[in-house]
Amino acid sequence: MVNLKKINCINKTYLDTKHSILVFGYFENGTLDAKQKKLDTLLESKISKAIELDDFKGKEDKKIIIYGNNDFKRIIFFGLGEKNKYNTDKVRSIAAKIVDYVNDMDVSSISVDADSFNFNKKGVAQAFCEGLVLGSYVFNEYKTDNDGKSYVDDISIFGDINRENVNKGYTLGCSVSFARDLGNHPANVVTPSYLSKEATSIAQNVKEMTSHIFNLDDIKKMGMGAFYGVAQGAKEPAKMIIVEYNGGNKKQKPIALVGKGLTFDSGGISIKPSASMDEMKFDMCGSATVLGVLKAVGELKPKINIIFAIGSTENMPDGNAQRPGDIVTAYNGKTIEVLNTDAEGRLVLADVLSYVDKKYSPASILDFATLTGAVLIALGNRASGVMGNSSSLMKEVFKASEISSEKVWELPLWDEYTKEIKGKYADIQNIGQARLAGTITAGSFLKEFVGNTPWVHMDIAGTAWGPKEPAYQPKIGATGVAVRLVYQFIENQL
Ligand code: BES
Ligand code: MG
Ligand code: ZN
Repeated sequence: MVNLKKINCINKTYLDTKHSILVFGYFENGTLDAKQKKLDTLLESKISKAIELDDFKGKEDKKIIIYGNNDFKRIIFFGLGEKNKYNTDKVRSIAAKIVDYVNDMDVSSISVDADSFNFNKKGVAQAFCEGLVLGSYVFNEYKTDNDGKSYVDDISIFGDINRENVNKGYTLGCSVSFARDLGNHPANVVTPSYLSKEATSIAQNVKEMTSHIFNLDDIKKMGMGAFYGVAQGAKEPAKMIIVEYNGGNKKQKPIALVGKGLTFDSGGISIKPSASMDEMKFDMCGSATVLGVLKAVGELKPKINIIFAIGSTENMPDGNAQRPGDIVTAYNGKTIEVLNTDAEGRLVLADVLSYVDKKYSPASILDFATLTGAVLIALGNRASGVMGNSSSLMKEVFKASEISSEKVWELPLWDEYTKEIKGKYADIQNIGQARLAGTITAGSFLKEFVGNTPWVHMDIAGTAWGPKEPAYQPKIGATGVAVRLVYQFIENQL
């Protein structure tokens, strides 16, 4: 949940208003600017004295607090570090640290001076607001006791500000937080039906959006045997969720965003060990990324066409669950030997990918999935693994990733790897050789279902939950990874 409810842009000087907390940025070895000097005089040199007394130089992570007067109750200077090392990801982090610092001071609103944070530098205003929102995120919906904590719910930014950038930052922060919430709720709350309702309710409020929900019967009838095989053992009804967004020219091909929405992955008959199995509530984080972007697109309305698609079910052991060795036929006609029922994400995605590809002929497809534990071995939780069939689309993903500071690292999908998933009895099998290139063989499997459409797959099993750094990441739980990256990707296409 985002505690910060509002960011106000105030295009006048902070000197004319009262503040319970007024926050400034301060570069390493910087000096007070003209307005700050005026404030210092008003406060009988309390600011310059504090700077001197604490030997405050503006180093990163250093700060000083000054108790002023009735109009300027508290003034905080945050060190920004060296000016030539200042970048948007630092801004995002510093903003999150500011919120964290003031959150427990029992004030509901604070003020920020835009100038001292270089708001006019490209990307700073947006990143700052993203950081404010993400830093204010907590997931405590199930705690009946709030520990007496207080949260800032309103921030006013003073100065010459581009409102559109502030608004975009706020909206993206909220969209990432929405994705985090979806991930953090337990599997007895976030079910495929819950995800369908969230998608439908966003789409209903946006006139450029139309939603279609397909249930288990539809999935079976449409020939999605791979998806059906996973869903057949689940009591909780499975759903395929499609939202069409027509914000662009009618003739323009859409881009497609596809998400793995396993609301719980027990492994099925190839059941997982109990330790950490609770974390498999996060196995829908790919779909949370897609829904986070859906929310952002609904609010920011980029002029582009997008297909949002989610395959959602649980993966459960049951008398009716699929068995290791079962052979299923996917939507594109390929037969698959299910050698391990725990490699279920690729089965669900196979059908959603080939459905989206056939039905919409998209210009490009991006998919997001907590697909393999192996990606954690390869990259830890610092970067998502990316794979694809188009170097130009991959370049676009990298370009967006650099701006959003959500790291991605490419793994190869050479033909040699496709050999590893050649089936004994069917066309392909759903796993490669034990322990060898698990992330790549999963990617190679998906590649069989996108035809010639430019496609990039992002394995977010290491990044969807767990990372605690930088400061705008949550202290626990889901990160909402790639929502900002994808929105940046969309903007770069406009
Ligand atoms: N959802 C898991 C992948 C996963 C594991 C994500 C751990 C995050 C943490 C996926 O469905 C899965 O079980 N994959 C198997 C594939 C294997 C059976 C080839 C895995 O990674 O162990
Ligand atoms: Mg699994
Ligand atoms: Zn899974």
